[in-house]
Amino acid sequence: MELSKGEQAILNGESGEGPRKAMELIVALGRIYGAEGLVDITSAHLSGASYKTIGDGGLLYLEDMVAGGSKVKVPSTLNPIGMDRGRWGEMHISEDFAAKQLRIVELYGKMGVRTTCSCTPYLGENVPKFGDHVAWAESSALSMVNSMIGARTNREGGPGALAAAILGKTARYGYHLDENRRPTVIIDASIGDSIFEHSLLGQAVGSRIGGGVPYFRGIRPDMDQAKTMAGAMAASGAVAMFHVEGVTPEAKGQDVSGLEVITIGDDEIREARERLNTADGVQLIALGCPHLSEREMKEIAGLLKGKEKKGDAEIWFCTSESVRARCPDEVSIMERFGPVLADTCMVVSPIEGAFNRTGTNSCKAGNYLPTLCSQKVMCRDIADLLRVIS
Ligand code: F3S
Repeated sequence: MELSKGEQAILNGESGEGPRKAMELIVALGRIYGAEGLVDITSAHLSGASYKTIGDGGLLYLEDMVAGGSKVKVPSTLNPIGMDRGRWGEMHISEDFAAKQLRIVELYGKMGVRTTCSCTPYLGENVPKFGDHVAWAESSALSMVNSMIGARTNREGGPGALAAAILGKTARYGYHLDENRRPTVIIDASIGDSIFEHSLLGQAVGSRIGGGVPYFRGIRPDMDQAKTMAGAMAASGAVAMFHVEGVTPEAKGQDVSGLEVITIGDDEIREARERLNTADGVQLIALGCPHLSEREMKEIAGLLKGKEKKGDAEIWFCTSESVRARCPDEVSIMERFGPVLADTCMVVSPIEGAFNRTGTNSCKAGNYLPTLCSQKVMCRDIADLLRVIS
């Protein structure tokens, strides 16, 4: 792997300990994956932000990076954290957890990271352009920028994305290269129009193909449908990029002749749904995985308008701070049923301390709630879930 003189100097520690460690990590990743060199990036999105997922070890690592003088060189945003910074008291969060979580956010801030804490930064806070090389973690978000925007990122982990942000560079391999962005399988999909059906489609495809670059025919997802599909494909498999005929910017002109064709219809959708449903009743309904968009907020508020809260189940609505701020009317309707939370989500928050049966309309959450949060899951359409509490 070839490094320029400047890159070699960073590796030798001439820019300080933080950048040296970052370069060491990027070079190690590059060597593992056969990169010939580094590439400049225009932005980063960092995961590893919740105290629940990174623990004291992660907190110490961040303290070290800050002490070593690390600063990000490109616009960088942060994934959801374990709590709403202003409303953690409503989330059954302990004071110890809250203090450590706030310290983590502070440390990222000291490195120059924008601490917006959303998993949908491509909807407003951090929007790459077509052809940009970027270093994004968060499996649903990176799949969205690869696929719907045509920017180029690998499936970064938290430390790799942070190292790339500090250097303004990442190793050039994987989805940074044209040859790895080509379709590997055709998916002929016949599904309904709802966001939930797109999530189930992602679930069915991810669990069927595992990885690769699917080329969809028969659907025309908008950003909301695509983000839930991307999240599900990344969680049930390891899909980091997809094409949709007539929709995604790199689908046009792709040669798909000779590729295997997989058909996904009613049977596969039903099977995907049945696999994820393990609970009959719920204690918590958590919507917003990935974070709710303005359109979804309006849809939910429309379904709740004029109704009264019923039953004992709690409901959380998870979105970004910017979407919450842009939807005051919707928020006031939704808040009669449960908190509209910013910066956090049901998976990276320590919900297992308070609940053991959770409802979601997201197959990504449906995959992770049992494994990361010890939950039994009810995975249904939004309207069905809202009927439980209204
Ligand atoms: Fe976002 Fe949390 Fe889902 S980070 S994609 S809401 S698991």
